Amino acid sequence: MTDTSHDRLLIIDFGSQVTQLIARRLRELNVYCEIHPYQNVTDAFVKEFAPKAIIFSGGPDSVMREGSPRPPKAAYEAGVPILGICYGQQVMMHDLGGKVEAGEHATAEFGRAYVTPTESRPNFVTGWFMDGSGQEQVWMSHGDHVSEIAPGFEVLGTSPGAPFAMTADLERKFYAVQFHPEVHHTPNGATLYENFVREAGFSGDWTMGAYREEMIRKIREQVGDKQVICGLSGGVDSSVAAILLHEAIGDQLTCVFVDHGLLRLHEAEEVVTMFRDNYNLKLIHADETELFLGELEGQSDPETKRKIIGKLFIDVFQKHADTIEGAEFLAQGTLYPDVIESVSFSGGPSVTIKSHHNVGGLPEKMGLKLVEPLRELFKDEVRELGRELGLPQSFIGRHPFPGPGLAIRCPGEITREKLEILRKADAVYIDQIRKHGLYDDIWQAFVAILPVRTVGVMGDGRTYDFACALRAVTSVDGMTADYYPFEHSFLGETATRIINEVKGINRVTYDITSKPPGTIEWE
Ligand code: XMP
Repeated sequence: MTDTSHDRLLIIDFGSQVTQLIARRLRELNVYCEIHPYQNVTDAFVKEFAPKAIIFSGGPDSVMREGSPRPPKAAYEAGVPILGICYGQQVMMHDLGGKVEAGEHATAEFGRAYVTPTESRPNFVTGWFMDGSGQEQVWMSHGDHVSEIAPGFEVLGTSPGAPFAMTADLERKFYAVQFHPEVHHTPNGATLYENFVREAGFSGDWTMGAYREEMIRKIREQVGDKQVICGLSGGVDSSVAAILLHEAIGDQLTCVFVDHGLLRLHEAEEVVTMFRDNYNLKLIHADETELFLGELEGQSDPETKRKIIGKLFIDVFQKHADTIEGAEFLAQGTLYPDVIESVSFSGGPSVTIKSHHNVGGLPEKMGLKLVEPLRELFKDEVRELGRELGLPQSFIGRHPFPGPGLAIRCPGEITREKLEILRKADAVYIDQIRKHGLYDDIWQAFVAILPVRTVGVMGDGRTYDFACALRAVTSVDGMTADYYPFEHSFLGETATRIINEVKGINRVTYDITSKPPGTIEWE
């Protein structure tokens, strides 16, 4: 737990797949909230956290199973409003004297359903049931259901499979719903959250302006007069972290930008210029192209390439960090989704699909303490903070770029010739996307150069050049993705431009694989 100066809402996570979305909806309402797995939420925890309201998430278990997850008693005794969702509703009814039954009587519901209101119209449902049909579309996903509500509760809405779809104890301000208001398929769900936090008295004091001031104060407190090192990749997260730190501690910050020679066209100059000239920030530009490309020579296995890059990156970073006298802290752009401890019901480690590149392990090895000024933020909040800090929109809105850079867009052996061709082709492709006004509709777009030469004819001559693949996807978080449905005319025009403008490519293909089964990058 970190922040105590805001109104705070506690989300007790019972393992739903969509708990993070609850936090998203609340943050959109400028409400500060934290997700904690039910195992960690003890009576003492609730007292210390001092929430202004509590939400019980959904979850896959059955309250009738012995040993199934429960909130602590202190949650009910805190005297603050509670909202129970799905499993959260069932657990609340069960704990407070109602009944839950298994979904044997054809009452299990999965998918879209419609809730009809009862007579009661408390503030909690304001803005609901307003359309002509008098019903609200909701998303249901439950096997068990509440068969008897707890004393003090009344029914606010019913659905065909859930006679107690919406319930409330208006006196205690305990609300419980069987459906998931946080998901997209409950179109008016945000209104319920808004009504709930308004009833709970939240003032909506969580803004990026306030966060910036508060973080600056905290960074100063944590760091004192010591030196801080920050790895800068040119991506949004590390850039925003660096600018925030610079605002807080000025010259006590040194950024290290490791240039592995696998960046896009003009990228290194752009990053260095922006930080040195616009922010007057101490920056070490570690141009280690020769080292990285030398070690990668002859390597074609994707995991080997990733491991070489990851290891060299740490070595180089450490080498430069060692030159900064009195450095005691390492700054990282860790985000909230990386720190949420999720409830795992599956157990067992998940398989490694790709060894992601980060500087994990470095702080202990170097005896450094961590500064993580973005730990409480979601990605879109980082972008908002970046805007607040005056970073240009062109920078904030950039597509993500992976740590190993172009290495993983160059299947097979990496050569300088291929990198050169790839950079040029990528620049033409992105230029096309911008010119057609598509950049912001696409989550990530890039070119991969393929390890194959193909025969072509240009003018009267035969060509024997590389083929490349264009990739463009839409996604929310990079975990799943759909390929972008470009118009054929766009693809044709782009292929023509690449073949005409980039020497070394004579064939262009478009990758129409979604994730899963593909991944976004080619390696
Ligand atoms: P994949 O290829 O796994 O990529 O579908 C998902 C997202 O992660 C990015 N990516 C990385 N980012 N270090 C990073 O910082 C990495 O090693 C790495 N590998 C993939 C990828 O660009 C996409 O946005």
